[in-house]
Amino acid sequence: MQVTVIGTGYVGLVTAIGLADAKHDVVCVDLNKERMEQLSNGVAPITEEGIEGALQQNQSRLTFTTEYPVSDLYLVAVGTPERADGSCDLSAVEAVVKLIHSIQPHAAVVMKSTIPPGTTEKLQMAYPSLRFAMVPEFLREGTAIRDMRNPHRVIIGTHDQQLASDLTELFKTNAPIVHVDPTTAELTKYAANSFLAVKISFINEIARLADIVGADVEDVAHGIGLDPRIGPAFLKAGAGYGGSCFPKDIAALTTLAQQHGEHLHVIEAADRTNEAQLEYVLQKIAPKRGLRVALLGLAFKPGTDDLRDAPALRLAERLTKMGVIVTGYDPAAKTLLDQKDTIEEAVTGAEIAVIMTEWDEIKHVTPRRLTDNMKTARLIDGRNCWAFVEEPGNVQYEGIGRPNKTFSNNPTS
Ligand code: UGA
Repeated sequence: MQVTVIGTGYVGLVTAIGLADAKHDVVCVDLNKERMEQLSNGVAPITEEGIEGALQQNQSRLTFTTEYPVSDLYLVAVGTPERADGSCDLSAVEAVVKLIHSIQPHAAVVMKSTIPPGTTEKLQMAYPSLRFAMVPEFLREGTAIRDMRNPHRVIIGTHDQQLASDLTELFKTNAPIVHVDPTTAELTKYAANSFLAVKISFINEIARLADIVGADVEDVAHGIGLDPRIGPAFLKAGAGYGGSCFPKDIAALTTLAQQHGEHLHVIEAADRTNEAQLEYVLQKIAPKRGLRVALLGLAFKPGTDDLRDAPALRLAERLTKMGVIVTGYDPAAKTLLDQKDTIEEAVTGAEIAVIMTEWDEIKHVTPRRLTDNMKTARLIDGRNCWAFVEEPGNVQYEGIGRPNKTFSNNPTS
């Protein structure tokens, strides 16, 4: 089947590779000419494990262009950013659908972008000759290629029986395929992201209490996660969540509910707790003018260079405003911070190092590399990623909700 994918961000690009993997010919369209040239040469515009190999393997089935081809099946994967009022900006989606309609008025249009419940139905009413479906995406940055090859489920939301059957064939997988209406598919995506965010904020609150009562949140998470009704995933306490999805999707969903006079109390609380979690890290740092702080890890999660809504950047901004001297290190992401090329350089002269992204390199940094270079070797582990298999040396360690793992041999005392 020949498929056209509009938009080559994470979702569009990885979906296109997935379809090419399954031997479909895929035309990828994006207005960004430079990106299209890069991709045509097999160069991935994003840091993502396995993406260059997957691109090269499928090069003969992938075409990258800035021109919309005539096609029977278009997948829409353009951005749906947050507006100032928290709602979802659908202008790119609407412009793409309008253009598709002008090129091929009877095409099948599959929404992959995350769009608020009701959007596909509205588009269907506006363009009755087009045949719409909503197939939400659940891949995670950093493991996107793996997720695309091994999805947990495929949700196909459409009223069009023929399209439902074509899409079942197109997204063929061993995972369950769930057939629903478009609005249910849209809400399923938001509900999934909101639920994961709630899990993170839940464990972050327990972590704060663990600090007070002297319990270890990592053991609590392990203990509750063994119950299959709870599950172990997304119970990692730390500096809170960021990225291009959770904050934006929660804002869109809660704003949509409020526009209908409804409050999503649990989800709104997850968002507030996430804000408070960064304040909690700030409290641990106890910022003051002239303090030197090194942020280890800047991307919103390991395995990506994505800095969108990265907690590290939000923290850096707060610290800088308070007169703190901030340096940073990240193996992939590039920022405007005083960013150094190595961990050693970033921590040189610092009084506190704060782990904000649990890159392997940062997880395994030896205490020696900190003590040899820092002014006072104090480490705040904002991702609870230090394992303590080795001697902490003279590092004064503080995690989030791990009070019994605090070592008191502060080299300055
Ligand atoms: C998220 C969802 O996990 C995907 O299923 C979804 O497809 C995607 O959004 C999307 O809507 O496009 P992603 O934002 O790539 O994926 O990253 P996650 O792995 O979900 O992590 C999000 C944030 O939560 C990160 O800042 C991470 O550090 C934080 N996190 C995650 C925690 O603080 N604790 C955890 O236990 C897990």
